[in-house]
Amino acid sequence: MPHEQDEKRTSLLIGVGVGPGDPELLTLQALRTLRDADLVVVPVRDDLDEVGHAEAVVRAHLSPGGSDSNDTARIVRAPFALTDRSGLSERRTRAWETAARVVLDAFADGAATVAFATIGDPNVYSTFSYLAATVREARPDIQIRTVPGITAMQALAAASGTVLCEGSEPLVLFPALGGPSAIDEVLQHHALAGATVVAYKGGRHWPELRKVLAAHGRLSSAVVGSHLGRHDQAVHEAVEVDGEIPYLSTVIAPSRRTTRGGKLA
Ligand SMILES: C[S@@+](CC[C@H](N)C(=O)[O-])C[C@H]1O[C@@H](n2cnc3c(N)ncnc32)[C@H](O)[C@@H]1O
Repeated sequence: MPHEQDEKRTSLLIGVGVGPGDPELLTLQALRTLRDADLVVVPVRDDLDEVGHAEAVVRAHLSPGGSDSNDTARIVRAPFALTDRSGLSERRTRAWETAARVVLDAFADGAATVAFATIGDPNVYSTFSYLAATVREARPDIQIRTVPGITAMQALAAASGTVLCEGSEPLVLFPALGGPSAIDEVLQHHALAGATVVAYKGGRHWPELRKVLAAHGRLSSAVVGSHLGRHDQAVHEAVEVDGEIPYLSTVIAPSRRTTRGGKLA
């Protein structure tokens, strides 16, 4: 653990999880970090000029023209290739470097603490890890921390009244980006047969995912949540949902449970 006096001299980059979208699902530590930071960087789509999901949560807590510790003037947008689906592409790499440059310039201009707001948790499928790696490469002396955030998976569990896991049940979170066989592999993995399965990033692949869930007898108890915490939030039983669903959608297929406490080891 660094000594407190060392911390004061050190440039600090903090990945702040701002939750899935509902401004009330922001922790007190996240709020304090956003208020105390010299700069709050928010990821936005590089192909759109609009307020992003994380920025909307941040703006709900900082006011325009507020006091020094509570103003929106400290918000800086960093464009990310959020819609790029072509792997480690040139566009993605350029975006990480541009965002890292925003952070590095802020430190060069005298900032002591830069916060990077990201939806959900910064350690779960977040752009923050790529940004942090890029900044670390350029300036290994910069300290990097994270403030945990409430994940979309937790928000959907609460909104749909779904228990994520009990007793000895595994909990599997996977990105449903592959085709049906990749999804099928997750569901039929023997060690995971009794697991609750959560799918992220599967909006476009929902029709395939739906079929695979049905084939494994997991569709009837599954739930789908889109745009959780936002004004257009939609939470449905999975059997009711057909066709493509938005990118910001989460699917939970809960473990099969028959008796209370039946999965206790
Ligand atoms: C890049 S990952 C971000 C995950 C996020 N860091 C977390 O901890 O939940 C994006 C995926 O998270 C899920 N997600 C994030 N926010 C969501 C929301 N508001 N509603 C539904 N799903 C969401 C979706 O599956 C989406 O495709």
